[in-house]
Amino acid sequence: MTGLAEKLFTEHDLSDAELKALILTDDTAAENLLAERADEVRQKYYGKKVFLRGLIEMSSICRNDCYYCGIRRSNKNAERYRLTPDEIMECCDEGYKLGFRTFVMQGGEDAYYTDDVLCPIIGKIKGRYPDCAVTLSIGERSYESYERLKNAGADRYLLRHEAAADELYSKLHPDFMSLENRKRCLSDLKRLGYQVGAGFMVGAPYQTVEDIICDLRYMQELQPQMIGIGPFVPHRDTQFRDEKSGTAELTIRLLGIIRLMFPRVLLPATTALGTIAENGRERGLKTGCNVIMPNLSPAAVRRKYSLYDNKIYSGSEAAECCGEMRDLIARAGYEVSTERGDFVNTKEN
Ligand code: 5AD
Repeated sequence: MTGLAEKLFTEHDLSDAELKALILTDDTAAENLLAERADEVRQKYYGKKVFLRGLIEMSSICRNDCYYCGIRRSNKNAERYRLTPDEIMECCDEGYKLGFRTFVMQGGEDAYYTDDVLCPIIGKIKGRYPDCAVTLSIGERSYESYERLKNAGADRYLLRHEAAADELYSKLHPDFMSLENRKRCLSDLKRLGYQVGAGFMVGAPYQTVEDIICDLRYMQELQPQMIGIGPFVPHRDTQFRDEKSGTAELTIRLLGIIRLMFPRVLLPATTALGTIAENGRERGLKTGCNVIMPNLSPAAVRRKYSLYDNKIYSGSEAAECCGEMRDLIARAGYEVSTERGDFVNTKEN
């Protein structure tokens, strides 16, 4: 099995059968080699740098109804909030002082945030902090909308594809949502010149290893600059409340595989990974991850942005405890970068 990790390291690709074997392996030697090779590749392109992204959870109001998500519109128990443009600016001001050079504006698909509302906010952030990147993560919109937001100054866009296999996609989403539109959005974003992030949950209900291979193949086509994966974690107010969480082991193996398949990708050690395993994010960093996304949202709303149960809300997640996050990174043997942390665009692979 170590042969497969080595092959993925040199060739950046494997056959479906080989990928399946590596994804499912319980061979410790192969896992260790995978982690070692993933770290070698991340260090080749990014050294020991870890980029911090200040996450601003701007709204828990969502018109979508993804079956797994705690802020889905039919969850009557979800507490809804929306930050005002001034509050978003305050998050950026605080984040800038803490050393963040990327602000991620993430939220449910909240109709309040029209282009007319968002563009001036983006313009103001870029005007005040021209050395910072603005990343949007606000779901599916039209080409025209993505274009206006880009022209207003947005640099990057996160939109996990969630599931590239049609059948799985429709088991996780209501009929009015479609994989086709999701993919259309991602293609549009790429075409408009955004740095784009795709991704999926590991261990989602009904997900098979073939589904995961399908996700990897889709991302090989799309060539996103960022990939977000984290374990599925059930939320008590969804129909998946009794489903099992994804495991840290599978998530970490996939992080290693992704680093070798997409050598220069920006890859976060996600909050969900830190939620299901005590040292999840540290292990992620040692297996190819080079991004951490601390929460910059005001403490008063943080609990309300509840995508899944037991999400880490305080301690190292709070920007006030930025030091703790830096400790985590130092403990894993890496260093916090003060750069924007853009995708390194060299021809060489
Ligand atoms: N468990 C883990 N991740 C989740 N997300 C939404 N709900 C859950 C859950 N129950 C992820 C989705 C989404 C991102 C913002 O959070 O993949 O794209």
